[in-house]
Amino acid sequence: MSLDFFPGLDDLQSAGAKQQQLHEQAAAVARRHFGRKVFVRAVIEISNFCRENCEYCGMRRDNRDLRRYRFKLDELADLIIHQRPSSITDINLQAGEDPIAVRDIAIPLIKIIREKTPLGVSVCLGTLNESLYAELQNAGASTYIIKFETGSPKLYARRQSPGTFEERVGHICHLQDKGWNVSSGFICGLPDETDADLLNNFTVASQLPLDGCSVSPYIAGEATPLAKNSNCSIDLALNCMASLRLMRPDWVIPAVSALNLAGGTCGYQRGLATGANLVTINMTPTNERGEYLLYKRNRFIMTEDRVLSAIEAEGLEPSTESLAEFYRNASVVNFK
Ligand code: 5AD
Repeated sequence: MSLDFFPGLDDLQSAGAKQQQLHEQAAAVARRHFGRKVFVRAVIEISNFCRENCEYCGMRRDNRDLRRYRFKLDELADLIIHQRPSSITDINLQAGEDPIAVRDIAIPLIKIIREKTPLGVSVCLGTLNESLYAELQNAGASTYIIKFETGSPKLYARRQSPGTFEERVGHICHLQDKGWNVSSGFICGLPDETDADLLNNFTVASQLPLDGCSVSPYIAGEATPLAKNSNCSIDLALNCMASLRLMRPDWVIPAVSALNLAGGTCGYQRGLATGANLVTINMTPTNERGEYLLYKRNRFIMTEDRVLSAIEAEGLEPSTESLAEFYRNASVVNFK
C-alpha cells in the first residue's frame, strides 16, 4: 500500500514547535480514525522463564540471579473470571519464551477465558513452533504480539535477539498467513543504533503485514550486559510514535509502560497525546510482579486508576468494543 507519510530524521529528532506540530498531527489522525475511544486491555505475565538471551532484557537466560516463576492455572483463571478490572475488554497473556508455560498455562487458560468471559485474547509468547501457534489459535486467541525489535538485521544479531531477523520476520508472516491479527514493534534507541537503523524501523514496519505496532523506548535494564548504556529519550520515543501514527493511521498503537521510565513526567499520558490508542492495565499478581524483569525491578505499574486517569486527562474514553471485535469487523470491511 502507498504510504501518506514516511518520517525523515528531521521528524524523529524534532524539538520545540516542529515537534509539537508533529504530535498534534498524529493525535488528530488517531482521533479521525478511532474517535475518542481508546482500547483498554489487561496483561498477565504468566511466566518469566526464558530460553532466549536478548542483551537488553533482564529475563535473558544468562541472568541466573532472577528467581523464575510460573503461575498456577487455577489462580489466574480465578483472577480473570472474578477479579478483573471492569474497564478491560481484552486480555494479553505474556511470558518469556517458555513453551512449558504455553502448554500448561496459556492454552488451557485461553479456553477458560473464552468460555467464561467476553474478553478478546492476545498473546505475546515469543517464537514458537507452528503446532503451538495453532493450538493457541484453536483455544481462542486471535492476536499475536511479536516484535521485530529492530529494523537492522545486523543490530538484531549483535543484541542476540531471538533466532535471526529473517526468521523473526518469517514468524510474523506465518502468523498473519494463518489468520492471526499480528501486532509487532521495535525498540528505539537501542545501544549502537545508527540513524539509518532508526529510519529502517519504519521501513520494516511499513513492509510487514501488521494490524498494530508499538514503539518501546530502550531502557537500560538491570542485570543485563547493557546496563551501563543510557536510556532512549522520551522525545525520541514520542516522535517515533507520532511518526508511526502518521505513517499508518489505521494501526492500533499502544502507549507502553516504559514511556514512564524514559524520563520526563507523564510519559504514558504523553503517548496518548501522540496518537496511541491502546492502554494496558497490569494484572499480574503482586507476589511475582517484581520478577518480570524486562527493565528494572522498580517498575512503574499501570493500575486501572492510573490508566483511566491518563485517558480522562487527555479527553479520551475507554472503548467498550474489544480489540478482538474491532479487528473482526475491520477484516469484514477490508475483505482481509
Ligand atoms: N528496553 C525496551 N524494550 C525492551 N524489551 C525488552 N527489554 C527491553 C528494554 N530493555 C521489549 C522487547 C521485547 C518485549 C517483550 O519487551 O521489544 O520483545
